[in-house]
Amino acid sequence: MVSKVVVLPGEGVGPEVITEAVRVLNWFKVHRGVEVDIHSELYGVEAFSKYGQLIDIDVFNSLVQVDAVLFGATGGPKFDKLPTAIRRSHNLLAIRKHMGTYANLRPIKTFDELIGIIPLKASVVRGADLVVVRELNGGVYFGQPRGRITMADGIESATNTLSYTAPEIERIARVAFNLARVRNGHVHSVDKSNVLEVYSLWRDVVDKLHKSEFSDIPLAHILVDNCAMQIINDPKRFDVVLADNMIGDILSDLAGAITGSLGMLPSVSFGDVNEEGRRCALYEPVHGSAPDIAGQGIANPLAAIMCIGLLLKHSLQLPDEALYLDNAIQKVLASDCRTPDIQLLGKESVSTSVMGDEVIGALNELSKG
Ligand code: IPM
Ligand code: MG
Repeated sequence: MVSKVVVLPGEGVGPEVITEAVRVLNWFKVHRGVEVDIHSELYGVEAFSKYGQLIDIDVFNSLVQVDAVLFGATGGPKFDKLPTAIRRSHNLLAIRKHMGTYANLRPIKTFDELIGIIPLKASVVRGADLVVVRELNGGVYFGQPRGRITMADGIESATNTLSYTAPEIERIARVAFNLARVRNGHVHSVDKSNVLEVYSLWRDVVDKLHKSEFSDIPLAHILVDNCAMQIINDPKRFDVVLADNMIGDILSDLAGAITGSLGMLPSVSFGDVNEEGRRCALYEPVHGSAPDIAGQGIANPLAAIMCIGLLLKHSLQLPDEALYLDNAIQKVLASDCRTPDIQLLGKESVSTSVMGDEVIGALNELSKG
């Protein structure tokens, strides 16, 4: 059966890195017989000028019917100038919600080949391999009421609401425990239960689920401030890191420091299997639109390319092909050919598209051997 993939390159460096990712997916189509149908669609400022929305509404609706969605990035100076109502509707958060992709998995792994460019000590980062399991459909990103007002005395005020229901916490905790089980690992559940009620509920729900279904999996609760310090101090302590939407957002960027670059972090978000037996999956590099370097052709495409690895494994059920791509990426990292974010100071770096060429070249080499 041919799998359907919708590609939304988005804004900033999104289109640059997604171009390379799609080249890689096409390589698998042509050279390895992977049956996939790839459609690229507009998202963001460009879509707004065409459709008056961040995304064509039919495309938006179709996202729940395809096998995978690959999203580049959103945001930037032009996006910020769009009317607030436009920025708020049919945006990336609305896509995540519409697709029901509440479980965001962000694998964070230190490649031996990059140890030389990581500011942290080699002994601290070598072998680090963790996954942030971030709740993606709830929490303060979606809580109501929200908004900015000017009060009668002219003073401005703004409100957001942090709220979670027990079932929302339980379903994401279940994802984390199941992942720890297949990884033969353990779970750190992150919260701020010493201050906020939402997190004392979070802790109770995680504990209850742990006792009833996952008592074989080691579980530790950790406060977010301490967790931030420990991830940098001793990342190898961590295996599966379970967090809510906002904490997961912050900790995953932070944990990026142990890989050397945000350009090395892919992610996948899953929903539950629906009545038709389909599970929505949304693939996004963790880095954002990086407006400061957009259009220069220097962004690292590896996070987007690693999303293809996740897509091959999880949406197309082709773990061997994913491994094949992993090996190609490792081969490229072993060479000197690198974008500026992962290059040694003083050494020449390559462009986004050359990095893509290198991955394709490594795939070709592997298929000969
Ligand atoms: C991420 C990003 C997004 C988020 C932004 C672009 C809305 O930072 O995916 O980590 O906060 O979820
Ligand atoms: Mg983020």
